[in-house]
Amino acid sequence: MKILLLNGPNLNLLGTREPEIYGSLTLDDVVQRVTEAAAARGATVRAFQSNSEGALVDALHDACHWADGVIFNPGAYTHTSVALRDAITGTGLRVVEVHLSNIHAREEFRHKSLLAPVCVGQISGFGWRGYLLALDALLFETGDK
Ligand code: DQA
Repeated sequence: MKILLLNGPNLNLLGTREPEIYGSLTLDDVVQRVTEAAAARGATVRAFQSNSEGALVDALHDACHWADGVIFNPGAYTHTSVALRDAITGTGLRVVEVHLSNIHAREEFRHKSLLAPVCVGQISGFGWRGYLLALDALLFETGDK
């Protein structure tokens, strides 16, 4: 099982960005933990982060040639991006949407995800562990474990 761990805008700032909301782990820490958890389950992870919507679209297009599933925190593009939604439907990738914070308990504009309806599911509010939950969800969903 090959997984793309995809992170969108501002997630490169994890560790220093509003730690009371997003926690104190860096993105590298998160990638390491997901990679280790995946390895323990016989899965491999490739990680990519970009602040650019187009680069995230390109990453999804590329992933449809090799990835069995995607763990995706689209950051603020969650709430705005028709292009990312179309990339998910267009590639047919299995995507689990992840948010560190509980987007439904925050400002109104964060309550709506344009991507969630075309994802396998959404995990929101469990901090960095949400990425591990997404890993489990993908493995479960693909019948791998
Ligand atoms: C986020 C939630 C988004 O609303 C926000 O724009 C982010 C991070 C989260 O992980 O909680 O950048 O996706």
